[in-house]
Amino acid sequence: MNRLSFDRGWKFARFGLLPEGGSRPEPEGMEKPSFEDGAWRTLDLPHDWGIEGPFRGDLPNETGKLPWAGIGWYRKVLPQQAAGKRVYLDFDGAMSHPKVYVNGVLAGEWAYGYASFRVDLTPHLASTGTNLIAVRLDNPPDSSRWYPGGGLYRHVWLVTGNAVHLAHNGVFVHTPDVTSERATVAIAATLERETAGVSVRHEVQWKGKGIAQAEGLKASITLPRPQLWSVATSNLYTLKTTVWVAGKLVDSHDTVFGVRSVVWDAAKGVLINGQRVTLNGVCNHHDLGVLGGAVHERAIERQLEILKEMGCNAIRTSHNPPAPELLDACDRMGFLVIDEAFDCWRRGKKPNDYHLDFDAWHERDIVSFVHRDRNHPCVIAWSSGNEIPEQGNAAGAALSRELTALFHREDPTRLVSAGCNNANAGSNGFSETVDLFGYNYKPQLYGAFRARYPRQPLFGSETSSCVSSYGEYFFPVEQDKSKGFYNFQVSSYDLYAPPWAMKPDIEWEGLDKNPSVAGEFVWTGFDYLGEPTPYNQDRSNALNFSDPKEREKAMALFEKLGNHSPSRSSYFGIVDLCGFKKDRFYLYQARWRPELPMAHLLPHWSWPGRDGQITPVHLYTSGDEAELFLNGKSLGRKKRAPLTYRLVWDDVLYAPGELKAVAYKNGKHWAEAIQRTTSSAVALKLDADRKALTGGHDLSFITVKIVDAKGEQVPSADHLIHFTLTGSAATLAAVGNGDATNPRSFQTDEYPAFHGLALAIIRAKHDTKGEVILRVEAAGLKTAEVRIRVAAQ
Ligand code: GAL
Repeated sequence: MNRLSFDRGWKFARFGLLPEGGSRPEPEGMEKPSFEDGAWRTLDLPHDWGIEGPFRGDLPNETGKLPWAGIGWYRKVLPQQAAGKRVYLDFDGAMSHPKVYVNGVLAGEWAYGYASFRVDLTPHLASTGTNLIAVRLDNPPDSSRWYPGGGLYRHVWLVTGNAVHLAHNGVFVHTPDVTSERATVAIAATLERETAGVSVRHEVQWKGKGIAQAEGLKASITLPRPQLWSVATSNLYTLKTTVWVAGKLVDSHDTVFGVRSVVWDAAKGVLINGQRVTLNGVCNHHDLGVLGGAVHERAIERQLEILKEMGCNAIRTSHNPPAPELLDACDRMGFLVIDEAFDCWRRGKKPNDYHLDFDAWHERDIVSFVHRDRNHPCVIAWSSGNEIPEQGNAAGAALSRELTALFHREDPTRLVSAGCNNANAGSNGFSETVDLFGYNYKPQLYGAFRARYPRQPLFGSETSSCVSSYGEYFFPVEQDKSKGFYNFQVSSYDLYAPPWAMKPDIEWEGLDKNPSVAGEFVWTGFDYLGEPTPYNQDRSNALNFSDPKEREKAMALFEKLGNHSPSRSSYFGIVDLCGFKKDRFYLYQARWRPELPMAHLLPHWSWPGRDGQITPVHLYTSGDEAELFLNGKSLGRKKRAPLTYRLVWDDVLYAPGELKAVAYKNGKHWAEAIQRTTSSAVALKLDADRKALTGGHDLSFITVKIVDAKGEQVPSADHLIHFTLTGSAATLAAVGNGDATNPRSFQTDEYPAFHGLALAIIRAKHDTKGEVILRVEAAGLKTAEVRIRVAAQ
């Protein structure tokens, strides 16, 4: 089939709940070609209508204080199609409840906003002239626990071809027998319409060259000395499948696949090609920070690059099917994926969430999800759900069995898991309804589960949920996890967490005492929009403060804000909403990349007024011992004790100057870390992750740093920064700073720095090339500029 992007040039308008408040009724007939949409906006997909803002104090913090709820219509003209062809639209995702009309007639619909689905336009197309495609989307309020976004936020494809063709996601490739000597590639293809004289051929290609062939709907190919796929060597093959009728080529499809074996072993964890790969994973929501829910391939890739640098090797797609581009990138970059379907089944977590659609839709959702994702080598297991309310009862267990069977029916090659937060799910029989058991936040139960179920693989499906804000440190440093909250920020000593959660160190003790656990998925890799625990919507916030004095202070602030916290994005991320690394990044790196010589000191060392006061110092290092120096004077050498994961000097008295740690491993010099007291801010400094872009949808992420005369980042700098882009080949897509409380829109040209940092994202335009210049200015600081080249698409 011929597959073309159908992203460009849509008309768009909102109805129902409006961004600024109030509502607008839906006129009749918007699905009809005759409807006049000339006054509507013209835009390209992917498009998230929620991220356009504004952030509103009266909207729930839980879903980002953004106006994603409401109704949206998109309309676009489809040119006349050749007679006798099949014509489909493939939607990678549409938030939510999409109804797709062709020339005024309902041609297809779906419910789940994260599902990919195909609509057959063929029976509804005009025999001459153009066709009008109209899509209605409806996001009910109270339907999500995080920011879902709104609209046609993923790609849409126009797929055309002959009557006889391969079914949608109708080629299934897997590798049942893999050794370094040979591998079997098993293929099962499905045709949309069987006909006499049809034949199906397959060719395995390596780097564009055909290396083995087979024929038939079901086929098997043996590859000698295969190039295996794993996290370290993400080798990918292509299977070219062609369909022939009476000697004529009628369809062709390329499937990217990898040759690898995945074994989940109760004692050894996950074995890829026979080798244990400990899951050093993170959970991530689908949003891309300041870009919102709209899919950007480069933003996904950048997230994975940052995670890879940390030593992360696995992603749990919490709590829904991801964008297909995430899995493509995981295949390419060598990440393992637990591909998750749902956050609830029959019993909901919010009044209008998926539980309302579950009975009518879950089977279709699982089928479409599994068919879409089953060829990805990165996908090592399915997850049927997260913290499903039914995990505590027998009816839930029965339903879970049904879902597991559905996954197995559609993909007999992978095992099924679920993420469970109910301690009893590991002993009430629920765990027996899935192949792999995932505990959320229960390292203390790993041992008991293993004793009860010696043969069932176990992993930490969600771990830690430590909270912190980039660059914030509060004194005195309390060990109690429920402290460390102040001014709607969270201290970055990586000790603080909500009641069900814990610092990373406690999870690691559980993992190290129970090596049969396959690994963990930290909540979360990146900060996300919504769920700003511990500063959620209302007075339930009080629950987060165990100290009555702190509680009183926080509640006074809430009252001042009309009982609303200003927070609109999470504090859980190891990396913030802009992609800036919080201290925790280095704590994980120290554990996950033990071979990398590294050391990271906190806090920063610019504390006017703290002279002589106790300022605890923590060192995150892959070494096992370190000596700390303040202005050249040793403050002692410390060794990491078993089951401890950081080095701590609790009694350091602050003095400005240079704080330095020298780390050792096995007695040998290993790495150094330095924090220096900065002087006043004098200049802006820019660092673009890429200075050459390809026209279309490509992005450059530009970090703005406020520095002193020596070029060091000034931690207290919060200047308002003005961004000016000149040149017509790109646009300023978004700006931000990682502060979870800032109510400014990300789609603006003025944003303050947060602890000396801000971000600008430049997006290349279509059909153009040339150079653009980003200029950043702030009062009292030396201006900076960066030039970005945009090449033709
Ligand atoms: C878990 C839940 C996640 C997120 C997290 C925050 O219980 O599965 O979606 O809410 O808590 O700690």
